[in-house]
Amino acid sequence: MRTAPGVTTRNRRWLAVVAFVTAIAFLPLAVISVVVSRWVRADMSTVGAVDFARPLVIPPLAGSATDAGGRRVFDLRLQAGTTDFGLGRPTATWGINGSYLGPTLRAKRGEKVAINVTNDVGEATSLHWHGMHLPAEMDGGPHQMIRPRTTWRPSWTIDQPAATLWYHPHLHGDTAKHVYRGLAGMFILDDSSMSRDLPHAYGTDDVPVIVQDKSFTRDGQLDDHEPLFSPTGFLGETILVNGAVAPYHDVTTDKVRLRLLNASNARIYNFGLVDPAGRQRGFALIGTDGGLLPHPVGTGGIQLSPGERAEIVVSMRPGEDLVLRSRPADLGADFWNQRFAGGDDTLDILQLRAGDTLAATPELPERLAPTPDLKEADAVTTRKIALGGSDINGRDMDMSRIDEVVTVDTTEVWRVSNGDGTPHSFHIHDVQFVILDVDGATPAPPLRGWKDTVYVAPNSSVRLLMRFADYTDPDSPYMFHCHLLRHEDQGMMGQFVVVKPGQRAGQPHSHPPPN
Ligand code: C2O
Ligand code: CU
Repeated sequence: MRTAPGVTTRNRRWLAVVAFVTAIAFLPLAVISVVVSRWVRADMSTVGAVDFARPLVIPPLAGSATDAGGRRVFDLRLQAGTTDFGLGRPTATWGINGSYLGPTLRAKRGEKVAINVTNDVGEATSLHWHGMHLPAEMDGGPHQMIRPRTTWRPSWTIDQPAATLWYHPHLHGDTAKHVYRGLAGMFILDDSSMSRDLPHAYGTDDVPVIVQDKSFTRDGQLDDHEPLFSPTGFLGETILVNGAVAPYHDVTTDKVRLRLLNASNARIYNFGLVDPAGRQRGFALIGTDGGLLPHPVGTGGIQLSPGERAEIVVSMRPGEDLVLRSRPADLGADFWNQRFAGGDDTLDILQLRAGDTLAATPELPERLAPTPDLKEADAVTTRKIALGGSDINGRDMDMSRIDEVVTVDTTEVWRVSNGDGTPHSFHIHDVQFVILDVDGATPAPPLRGWKDTVYVAPNSSVRLLMRFADYTDPDSPYMFHCHLLRHEDQGMMGQFVVVKPGQRAGQPHSHPPPN
């Protein structure tokens, strides 16, 4: 062994001991310095750093054909490709009928739809119709896996009010990855009772706004590394709207309707509008996840966790610019979780540029939709759903286990609680619910309409009222889960079946059956 001159074996032992003791002494300091530097950097603001230099891309409306059975047929092809995000290099992405995101599907209440979903991304996935009331086998959850180079053909009848829904993969364990790569799109439902006085020219004064956060590697590729200490999963610093970085939209009418969809993996946005002087501008909230509110609600901000939607109407003056900005969100968490879940971030998202003359549009109608008609007195049971760790009621998702059995044509209360100090949310398939209370208090006006996803703050609980109707299948479960995609993938998900009175739950079967 080589030894430096003058260093004896005994000296070497001492040196090792001294080095070891020093390392132990400095370890806490090293840890503290990492925490402090992360803490400082965890509070992000992009105000003033966003150029709004690209026009907003409007996802095309998906074409459709009518088949012999009178069904409206859509063809969707999930594919791999490259996308130019303006970073100087093409980025490898996934998309639907294109390289990133998918077309907007649109159908009317009462219509039969059939969708051919072809999987050309090279690995198994699924496609779920988030917010849709439909038979469990058509739902596109983890049991409706689409193997590579195969086509899945769900069909159902649209039977729910006008709403802004969306679609995304739901393969168990891979949802976060597949959504992050670009598989998602909007699904707009119309119904004939909808007022024509609401802005409704798609892409002009009725604008889809699909918001996602991304990180890019130095060579321009999507990076899904989670920030250190993030309790909720991936948080990116570049915001995309409909797949465009920092876009602007030219407004030509005095009112513009934005259909906001949080299609991010984990980020919770607190959307508001600011004028060029930095003043907050109010807007009208007209709809939430499951449809229009009974009346427009004037507000300065709307907080959306992943999967939630809001329809808002913004009034503009000729020649002005407004910025859609996400301000620090109220996560109801301790300072650590608040900060490391991105709750202290301020992010500029989209610029609205009003033309010098704006076409006049009708006044917003006072009455938008019927008040949700569920009654707590009709509830036949209260189920307790406890979110914590990566479990629900202490159990990890198991695709072969039915967790809850619901009888069709009944109303139920689900009490969802979050007991582990980190942010969670709750989403349930097949139904839209009404929030009875948040920690015992009447929910704020933005939470009084139809919802399918709700944020559940740490150490709080919500009581949800819902009615299960129409479709029964003892063998095909629907999902309920946290919609923070990392938590969902980790197993914070359960399964329920809807059965006929007296019927027992069966054995979940997957389509196609596992090899
Ligand atoms: Cu948006 Cu179960 O999903
Ligand atoms: Cu969660």
